[in-house]
Amino acid sequence: MGAIKNARHPFYNHCDEALDRIRHAGRYRTFTPLSRQAEHFPVYEEERQDVSGARDVVVWSTNDYLGMGVVPEVQEAAIEAVRAHGAGAGGTRNIAGTSPLHNQLEAELAALHGKEAGLLFISGYVSNQASLQTILTSMPGWICFSDQLNHASMIAGIKGARGSQTVIFAHNDLADLEAKLAAAPADAPKLIAFESVYSMDGDISDIAGICALARRYGALTYLDEVHAVGLYGAEGGGVSQRDGVADQVDIIEGTLAKGFGVHGGYITASATIVDFLRSTASGFIFTTALPPCVVGAALASVRKVRAESWRRETLFERVDMFRHKLRAAGVPFTMTPSHIVPIPVGDAERCKRISRRLLNEFGHYATPINYPTVPEGTERLRLTPGPFHTDEMMDDMVRALGLLLREEGVIPARETAGQAA
Ligand SMILES: Cc1ncc(COP(=O)(O)O)c(C=O)c1O
Repeated sequence: MGAIKNARHPFYNHCDEALDRIRHAGRYRTFTPLSRQAEHFPVYEEERQDVSGARDVVVWSTNDYLGMGVVPEVQEAAIEAVRAHGAGAGGTRNIAGTSPLHNQLEAELAALHGKEAGLLFISGYVSNQASLQTILTSMPGWICFSDQLNHASMIAGIKGARGSQTVIFAHNDLADLEAKLAAAPADAPKLIAFESVYSMDGDISDIAGICALARRYGALTYLDEVHAVGLYGAEGGGVSQRDGVADQVDIIEGTLAKGFGVHGGYITASATIVDFLRSTASGFIFTTALPPCVVGAALASVRKVRAESWRRETLFERVDMFRHKLRAAGVPFTMTPSHIVPIPVGDAERCKRISRRLLNEFGHYATPINYPTVPEGTERLRLTPGPFHTDEMMDDMVRALGLLLREEGVIPARETAGQAA
């Protein structure tokens, strides 16, 4: 009774229709398989179906900003830990999944940010989602003041905190944040969630200013330094370290997967907050711990990044050089105070086509960034030159970009040829 035979569940139709809409809007996601060549980073190998054999491609969109994932000591640390401890952690942190390496890495990260304690999560996404959701459901009446451009992982945590209230403030707008803080009940527990480097626009927040407001209105501060750790500050402790304000931030969150080139996420904070999240955050408790090989590699990477500044110094020199070459060739880019170089395109299909042509015709890979990652009409290529992009790679990329942006009508055709770098 009540059984329906051979009926297609409506969810299948929903998927088909949604995918049609996504394709129609030029937002269908395709991934480009590329094999990183550890010894030749940022050169990757692309297997091509249509022509024989593989070929080298220069990648301009990696988030392994410093190339730490291919540093021999980091690779060796992973291999050594696999040999010594096996491939996986074998359990949650509570169920035999905590190795001495986990504890050492947490202590190292706490020291990096000048905090009492650190806590590892399986990714930066999970660290944000689990920490914010847990904090914002811990007491009644929380109000979360969230920057308008916060990452999806923070939004997931904030939205998932049932019973809390969210107030979104205009991006990096301290006047708007203050007006909103002032309008909130004085006795409500408040938290301000924001990032240091916003990775799509490449702008940087005023951490000191936000912390001053937090003090004035009695708010906790939660700072995502995912795109800054490893790159900014004397030891790579992020923008809060560079600006000398890390001690003013209650919770600093980061990833081991970008500037540190490995994998995993973390928070650092007071021993009390870390202890609380360790004991209550579902996304920390109920999942298998990071494998010791990942933790060993991350530990080697964080130690190296803290001790050696030449990679981040070279990165910023290379970014300046790349901008100089773009400017000289008349290729427009958005000037940012960070290491991120967005090239505005402004149309999803065109953005994807330029990225595809860059790869197919010139052997350079730059990710097209489309809606929903950025608002419609602001589609762009997001480039992150690193310490190992050579002048020759840059000249070739700038020439290719100039040509394609002109051919695709993003910039007017040149009247006199030969001015490109
Ligand atoms: C601002 C921000 N926070 C958190 C994350 C998630 O970090 P992970 O890649 O380690 O999960 C990202 C990922 O791109 C991010 O851009």
